[in-house]
Amino acid sequence: VSKIGFVGFGNMGGTMLRALLKYGALPANRAIVFNRTAEKLIEFSNEYPEVETAASLADLGRKSERVFVCTGTKEVKAVLSELAGYLPEEAHVVTITGIIELRGLERIYGGSISKIIPTMISEVGEGVTLVSHNRKVLPDDRLFINTAFSKLGKVKEISEHQFDLAADLTSCAPAFYAEILHCYKQAALKHGDLNETELNDLIIPTCLGTARLLAQGMTDYEGLISRVATRGGVSEEGVKILRQSMPEIFDKLLDVTISKRAILKKQMNKQYGVE
Ligand SMILES: NC(=O)c1ccc[n+]([C@@H]2O[C@H](COP(=O)([O-])OP(=O)(O)OC[C@H]3O[C@@H](n4cnc5c(N)ncnc54)[C@H](OP(=O)(O)O)[C@@H]3O)[C@@H](O)[C@H]2O)c1
Repeated sequence: VSKIGFVGFGNMGGTMLRALLKYGALPANRAIVFNRTAEKLIEFSNEYPEVETAASLADLGRKSERVFVCTGTKEVKAVLSELAGYLPEEAHVVTITGIIELRGLERIYGGSISKIIPTMISEVGEGVTLVSHNRKVLPDDRLFINTAFSKLGKVKEISEHQFDLAADLTSCAPAFYAEILHCYKQAALKHGDLNETELNDLIIPTCLGTARLLAQGMTDYEGLISRVATRGGVSEEGVKILRQSMPEIFDKLLDVTISKRAILKKQMNKQYGVE
């Protein structure tokens, strides 16, 4: 039986493979993994002895019908070029690097390619995986991606040009939300005598509950705000402050992330010869 290969066991590759195994989206004996630094896999291999560790990229390529390329951005080109020489015909390649376009990848590998943008929060079975396929992707490949990643949260298939904005809201956003909560906590530390642990015990469940309430769809942002921030009350004053600064902050944030992504994409397109 052909395997599902994972090249690169870093932050995202490691999280994704662990999540696919944990949520039963992939049987351990179907997976094969290769990382540049072999030592990084020792602990994982003890935990999942049934996952095969490839001796080399060539070894992984020969044994896989589907390969997830999860190396750092700058290594993708060399890895894919090498893999292309070993993969069986009809093998499905999946990349997770937003700034490398499908048309660039197609210059290196002529078969079926999907680009997905995973999210760190798949570790807890939450979040949205963004997906886009090239024209050679077969129904079975599409089904595999949708079925597997639906087990770790939601899957959203969109056209590739929409990735630029959408990835901000899915893949980058956990870092933004963590920063916002961190700022809230730092301010709270200065305004009372609750310590960090006590504050986390208040902030994190409240954030989680707010998201859950909104996710249930029984109320929207405005509805929730008006239920909490009653006229003349304390919360209303806080909301007023946020409304003074937040729209500008998020406009700036998106201006910066979108233009940074455009610069990086341009550099990548040049490298891949698809300017
Ligand atoms: N982090 C996120 O939240 C996130 C979300 C969506 C997409 N992504 C994308 O995911 C990609 C990887 O990001 P990351 O944060 O996981 O980076 P990372 O932590 O640096 O992981 C990259 C891994 O690839 C391995 N690697 C590099 N070259 C290799 C090669 N030739 N053969 C085998 N393994 C190789 C590295 O091995 P060593 O152990 O030797 O360094 C490392 O373990 C990036 O393109 C990023 O844009 C990341």
